Amino acid sequence: MLKILGIESSCDDTAAAIVEDGRTLLSSVVSSQIQEHQKYGGVVPEIASRRHIENIAAVVRAAMQEAAVDYAQLDGIAVTFAPGLIGSLLVGVNYAKGLAYAAGAPLIPVHHLRGHIAANYISHPELEPPFLALVVSGGHSHIVRVDDYTSFAVIGRTRDDAAGEALDKAARAMGLPYPGGLHLDLAAKDGNAQAYKFPRPHVSGSPLDFSFSGLKTAVINLLHNAEQKGETVSVPDVGASYIKAVTDFLIDNTMRATAQTGIGTIAVAGGVSANSVLRRRLQEYCDKQGISLYLPQLRHCGDNAAMIASQGYYELQKGNIANFLLNATASLSIDYI
Ligand code: KG4
Ligand code: ZN
Repeated sequence: MLKILGIESSCDDTAAAIVEDGRTLLSSVVSSQIQEHQKYGGVVPEIASRRHIENIAAVVRAAMQEAAVDYAQLDGIAVTFAPGLIGSLLVGVNYAKGLAYAAGAPLIPVHHLRGHIAANYISHPELEPPFLALVVSGGHSHIVRVDDYTSFAVIGRTRDDAAGEALDKAARAMGLPYPGGLHLDLAAKDGNAQAYKFPRPHVSGSPLDFSFSGLKTAVINLLHNAEQKGETVSVPDVGASYIKAVTDFLIDNTMRATAQTGIGTIAVAGGVSANSVLRRRLQEYCDKQGISLYLPQLRHCGDNAAMIASQGYYELQKGNIANFLLNATASLSIDYI
């Protein structure tokens, strides 16, 4: 039984968790900075780094205590080293280096999006590659062929904004608090998704790619036009129609990807995988087509360290360990090795 400590600090959550053999969760602690960044309507990188520094020791200690594990029992220390906010990443990477040195355990660098995919291994112990992953977070929207635990091919990507960003910006324009995707999901619950028509975007010549900037502009224009005319719009109706447009795009391309690759298993990953409409509608489509769909439990959709510890186990199996020269990297493709 290999016990891996995971550390995550790529954005505004400081997290630590211990996972056994990549699948069994022994502890998971997440310290969120949402309230502080809410004042600014988004994450302020300098504040995020400072809070990580203040929080990380207590968060790791809490995860160790919750799992009743001591440092000598750890078989590896996995840390998110890319992609993310550089100042935030550096806090986790350096803390992990110190711990790995002190504990004499291997230091395992983990790609954040590989981690999001691995969240599904914790929620669904039976899930094994190969499968397709729809990766939808605040900064990324990809369709990824997961050939093996550490072997990935990006077969669809966004040309501009990420799905989460498109939801966050629209939510902000509607006056909803940060994080917008979550608040828009809640506000749109009883809205009429047929009330407003949004363009149905596609990227010509690249049927698996996304482009959300046109949709984002369309919703912002709709809100501005209404404001200039002194009209009020129904936030639930605009929200529901917009979420329908975003999820249509995600679902259409994902279904096309399964047809194109012949891979009949899909896992969803990243913060937007918490979206209630995406979860419900994708399940309906997959049921109809006989495709197996895996969704992370809600607690593992957003940033957490359990997913980093899980992926860390598979990276360790593959021999992907780092020395103490490991650096953080702000942007890096999921198929970097
Ligand atoms: O994966 P994540 O926690 O951080 C990144 O790696 O980016 O994703 C954050 C994104 C944000 O855009 C947030 O608005 C979105 O996930 N999000 C949601 C929901 N909960 C979080 N989007 C739609 N519906 C939700 N329920
Ligand atoms: Zn994330």
